[in-house]
Amino acid sequence: MDWGLKNRLSRVIKPDGRTVMLAVDHGYFLGPTSGLEDAGKTIKPLLSHADALMPARGVLRTSVDASTETPIVLRVSGGNSILDEDLSDEGITVSMEDAIRLNVAAVALSIYVGSPNQKETLLNLARLVDEGQRYGIPVLAVTAVGKSMGRDARYLSLCCRIAAELGAHFVKTYYCEGFEKVVKTCPVPLVMAGGKKLPEAEALELTYNAIKRGAAGVDMGRNIFQAEAPVAMIQAVKAIVHEHATPRQALDLYNSLKAQTKGKKKPKIAGVTASKQELNRH
Ligand code: 5RP
Repeated sequence: MDWGLKNRLSRVIKPDGRTVMLAVDHGYFLGPTSGLEDAGKTIKPLLSHADALMPARGVLRTSVDASTETPIVLRVSGGNSILDEDLSDEGITVSMEDAIRLNVAAVALSIYVGSPNQKETLLNLARLVDEGQRYGIPVLAVTAVGKSMGRDARYLSLCCRIAAELGAHFVKTYYCEGFEKVVKTCPVPLVMAGGKKLPEAEALELTYNAIKRGAAGVDMGRNIFQAEAPVAMIQAVKAIVHEHATPRQALDLYNSLKAQTKGKKKPKIAGVTASKQELNRH
């Protein structure tokens, strides 16, 4: 792997081999998703806690502070909308030249294995990887799941392996029963997709299970920014991903940080380092 590409990937996947990516790209086909109506306001307090931010180009330009040190994984596929019967009809929406101008650490594109546009989306991935190799930009393949498609280990292993074989440098996919098989048969780092909003305790359990079964981290959106206390939630997710916290410890941390933000309790500790102290007490 070329040095520049390795360097960019190491900004997203931290030295412990893990990452907590914050997905805020929903608007590219969903429009103003709940929690992202004013994307800038939502992103601002979360940005420094995320290991990487995944927006589409418009939100990046308009709603993310350009002085940020948080690496950007730019969504570069689209062309569909929630109004489409079949969401698989995606093309590449950002040139590599503009992605470089935006100083991104990586680019992300969805593939739709088993859909009517399977071939087009897989060739888009291959093309993007060629461009990425040329300029040293890593590519994240997102295994999008159409409404009628399954989410079992057999299907997701197929998608992840195809993405890796076509050259994706890392892959994003859903959690499923037998997730360890999906991880084992994918030769590049795999991050778990968050999916629809769950109660906080369940989202933390899901994160824990994915990490325990070999995921390199998460790329989570709604389960963070739609949480009752989003900043507390991202710190709780990080505690599992980077600090080996159990779901119980992470939930206690979430509740304690939430109480601080709501001003209900006297702050026990402040900031991210404090999260570690909190965890060590359990
Ligand atoms: C769909 C996507 C999203 O647009 C987004 O990143 C999903 O995030 P979440 O499901 O965690 O809200 O990648 O494939």
